[in-house]
Amino acid sequence: LKVAVMVSGRGSNLEAILQRQREGVLGAEVSLVVSNYPDVKAVQIANDFGIEVFVCSDRKGNDRKEAQMEISNMLTARDVGLVVLAGYDRILTKEFVRHWQGRIINIHPSLLPAFGGTLHAQAEALKHGVKISGCTVHFVTEDVDAGPIIAQAAVPVFENDTVESLSDRILREEHRILPEAIRLFAQGRLTIQNGKVLIKG
Ligand code: GRF
Repeated sequence: LKVAVMVSGRGSNLEAILQRQREGVLGAEVSLVVSNYPDVKAVQIANDFGIEVFVCSDRKGNDRKEAQMEISNMLTARDVGLVVLAGYDRILTKEFVRHWQGRIINIHPSLLPAFGGTLHAQAEALKHGVKISGCTVHFVTEDVDAGPIIAQAAVPVFENDTVESLSDRILREEHRILPEAIRLFAQGRLTIQNGKVLIKG
């Protein structure tokens, strides 16, 4: 299975995935990294691991729809069977989502459906005083952060937590469950029934 990882920034999830691949336990091959910015750490990480990078900016005369058409064509050209959103900071067009439906997954830093649809899920969790938070890997559908849930991990929220300390605790779990979800997908163990993911075996 060929996997493309879409990134926009720090790339710590990308790095976790590539490390699993290097250890031979991913069960899939990351063959392309797509970034909408040229000079971010994630691109450096891809280069360090020798993975092809496709930079496709959706700014300056290249609108989101056009950019995502280009990305979609590139994914097809590279025979990609799974698209992983790992900190990609753009909403995908409905055309893109429809085309890749069932073959795109995303990681979100909260226990969905709590705190979906925001780039500040950890801050929202602190604001609401929740005692448990975590992260969710889900299939991407046209409703942002609302697709069928593949995997979740919970972490405690402490009274003295800051956005940073909570984000770090959640991130450690992201790095575990996102590669795990890729492995399950690659093994063909995920099916969607009535909007819910069933895991075989
Ligand atoms: C993660 O917190 C992820 O849940 C969210 O964006 C962040 C990406 O971090 N969607 P990184 O670029 O993988 O380090």
